[in-house]
Amino acid sequence: MKLEQFVMERMQSTWENIVKFNLSESGVHPVALGELVPSAAGREELLTLELGYGQSNGTADLRNTIAEMYQGADDSNVLVTTGTSEANFLATWSIVEPGDEVIMILPNYMQTWGVARGFGGQIKEVPLIEEMNWAPDLDEFESLLSSKTKLIIVCNPNNPTGAILTEAEMDRITEGARRVGAWLLADEVYRGAERERPITPSFWGRYEKVIVTAGLSKAYGLPGLRIGWIVGPSEIVTKAWSYHDYTTIGPSALSDRLARVALAPDNRRKLLARTREILNNNFPVLRKWVDSYGGMFSVVEPQAGAIAYLRYDLDMESLDFVERLRDQKSVLLVPGEHFHMKNYLRVGFGSQPEHLREALELISSFVSDLP
Ligand SMILES: Cc1ncc(COP(=O)(O)O)c(C=O)c1O
Repeated sequence: MKLEQFVMERMQSTWENIVKFNLSESGVHPVALGELVPSAAGREELLTLELGYGQSNGTADLRNTIAEMYQGADDSNVLVTTGTSEANFLATWSIVEPGDEVIMILPNYMQTWGVARGFGGQIKEVPLIEEMNWAPDLDEFESLLSSKTKLIIVCNPNNPTGAILTEAEMDRITEGARRVGAWLLADEVYRGAERERPITPSFWGRYEKVIVTAGLSKAYGLPGLRIGWIVGPSEIVTKAWSYHDYTTIGPSALSDRLARVALAPDNRRKLLARTREILNNNFPVLRKWVDSYGGMFSVVEPQAGAIAYLRYDLDMESLDFVERLRDQKSVLLVPGEHFHMKNYLRVGFGSQPEHLREALELISSFVSDLP
């Protein structure tokens, strides 16, 4: 198997902890361990945890807690993974074989694009249309469906646009999958990180071949726990669990425990409320900055996630923009090129407001120095 470089993640892995202003992150400012476990009793209890191998598919308690968030699911439908990344990797690996056609709605988090190609899949791309507020071209989607379609990949809410599919669009995608008997992989890691709307409906339960991936990294502000999950039919979950034996074996015992703390109903509510508050405090800061450019930058407002996908009107490649900005001002953004698109920049706005303001000022200073 030959994997192409996952260019966005490679850039983030290299630079995100080196730059002063990391606006390449798509989640909110992370929760501190002390915020997650504020009481002395809770902390004492944690100290008794034995750091052995935990249950490799996730403790029954955690799997049950996750299953409760998906109507009709039980613990046999859940595999706990090391981040949503591992969930995506295992799900794609479990499905795609050489020569399979994979329909993917783009732009998207490009992990599954690379992994599906690595396993020999042939990607057929369906674009999101900016003029339609980043809705997918579903006529194009339907024209690509065939008996060769093995897998359909969506990310909802979407990275990088922050757009959310309507229920009608979700139904049309599900119907298409059903018509050709394809698997539908929905990465829902931004579910729960809506700015104004109620929690986005899940693809889970719409069709028997739906696999959902998600985790604690975005809506919950806990990427450092590296906890994700697959929710799917039990046969595919069992298969992915056996593949898991080859990757990380299981989640860290400490993270499994802390994930149960995070997903306890009261804590879950508080964490999601914290995320929403950050998004609503910060997005107006970015909006004002964009508007101050009177068209040089523009944005279709994201509905979820701490990311805005900005179009810019400058005669400069996005990778060049990002690398020069990083080297001159120590601010990191994601270039549209990492999503195979020209003239876009993904800006993360989930950090602390002062930090965001300072970073935006540095971008302004960079732009005003351009020839
Ligand atoms: C759509 C999407 N899926 C998965 C991931 C990876 O998430 P995790 O940190 O839970 O592995 C990301 C991270 O940016 C993402 O945007």
